[in-house]
Amino acid sequence: MTSTLIVRGGKPLVGDVEVRGAKNLVSKAMVATILAEEPCRLRGIPEISDVQVVSGLLELHGVRIDSTDRDGELTFDPTNVEQAHVADIDAHAGSSRVPVLLCGPLLHRLGEAFIPDLGGCRIGERPINYHLDVLREFGAHVEKRPEGLRLTAPEGLHGTKLALPYPSVGATEQVLLTGVRARGRTQLSGAAIEPEILDLIAILQKMGAIISVDTDRVIRIEGVDRLGGFDHLAISDRIEAGSWACAALATGGDVYVRGARQAPMMTFLNVFRKIGGAFDIGDQGIRFWHPGGTLASIVLETDVHPGFMTDWQQPLVVALTQTGGISIVHETVYENRMGFTEALRDMGARIQTYPECLGGLPCRFQQANYHHSAVVSGPTPLTPAEIEVPDLRGGFSYLIAALAADGSSTVTGCELIYRGYERFSEKLDALGVDYSLV
Ligand code: EPU
Repeated sequence: MTSTLIVRGGKPLVGDVEVRGAKNLVSKAMVATILAEEPCRLRGIPEISDVQVVSGLLELHGVRIDSTDRDGELTFDPTNVEQAHVADIDAHAGSSRVPVLLCGPLLHRLGEAFIPDLGGCRIGERPINYHLDVLREFGAHVEKRPEGLRLTAPEGLHGTKLALPYPSVGATEQVLLTGVRARGRTQLSGAAIEPEILDLIAILQKMGAIISVDTDRVIRIEGVDRLGGFDHLAISDRIEAGSWACAALATGGDVYVRGARQAPMMTFLNVFRKIGGAFDIGDQGIRFWHPGGTLASIVLETDVHPGFMTDWQQPLVVALTQTGGISIVHETVYENRMGFTEALRDMGARIQTYPECLGGLPCRFQQANYHHSAVVSGPTPLTPAEIEVPDLRGGFSYLIAALAADGSSTVTGCELIYRGYERFSEKLDALGVDYSLV
């Protein structure tokens, strides 16, 4: 699909779209196949570029991947996991953050791992110190080389007692994917408990792992000698579902999101309702719509689960430009996820960002100079513009702004959006969007 979209906005989005497996589970489930000594089957896989990146890395390591005759279903045969050539792995440098999660599984299967420089959205520093610290605690030797990281575990990996300084999603997944096959017991305090993590735990349990999750962010793992395969339907993408919901609200539309689930979206639904958005929860999906009248402003803070997801923040901010009054949004997960507001200002939005922690408790970024709080006053009509996509969620937000703006906007760099939103033009068609791809 081409990377420039010309959108003639100003019309409500109306129609049905489907969300399939969550990007942030599917890529990790694919990594888990390396741990298996039997074939695995994953269902609900979306057509996004992150899946292609992880498939490429798995294939380089000898995992055989086949599609079945069912849409969105792949089988993985990891029986011949093997060392990949460094130059081949390096070709994937900078394309995703998921490769760092290959460390534990490759160390278990091969005794060594090489990880290229990481990519992912530029929404903050995004260091991997927690990942490397926990891997060292498991007994891995980590060597930093100019082209990436080289890890070895000459004596194998052993269970350990760990505590994360912040409930990082990736570092929790690193502990899970490493602890399941480490010798003995592992205890992780301060773990992230996002629904995608619980779904990864469900997959690992199907494979033979023993993992318990306490209510106080403590995860306990009893290492096992061998893991089998799995057959799993991925949890659906609540970030994509929330993104379409915000698009419906910002454009005064009505969108049924097939596949959206209530439980993992409860925090989002509360916020959506407080602003004045309407929704109807069914067994197969959720309908989101603008009920007419003026929407209300809100004070909101992003947080780790069960808080309001950082990944919903950018689409929501565009919807907030259409609410009456002053909203305050405090981003506490990433220090640099408000940069996208500049282009919205150029489109007529009244958004001011601040380095202070506004509207909530002081966060990790309190003493630093990161503009991580925003004050949005609305409603303001948005005007069409030429905009370049800065990152995945920021990109979708620009698209929402273009859809809300009356007239023709040009959105460039859309390939970043395709990292996390599948069958994009089909969905725009289904929602009656007037656009062209150039
Ligand atoms: N952090 C560190 N050191 C580390 C790891 C994280 O300081 O070693 C910090 C990060 O800089 C950040 C915070 O901890 O400030 C949280 O990062 P986390 O590790 O939780 O994020 P992640 O695992 O890198 C995943 C998703 C993100 C999502 C976050 C939070 C994937 C591939 N990515 O990232 O998704 O925002 O969790 O829920 O699962 C997206 O889909 O657009 C996206 C960015």
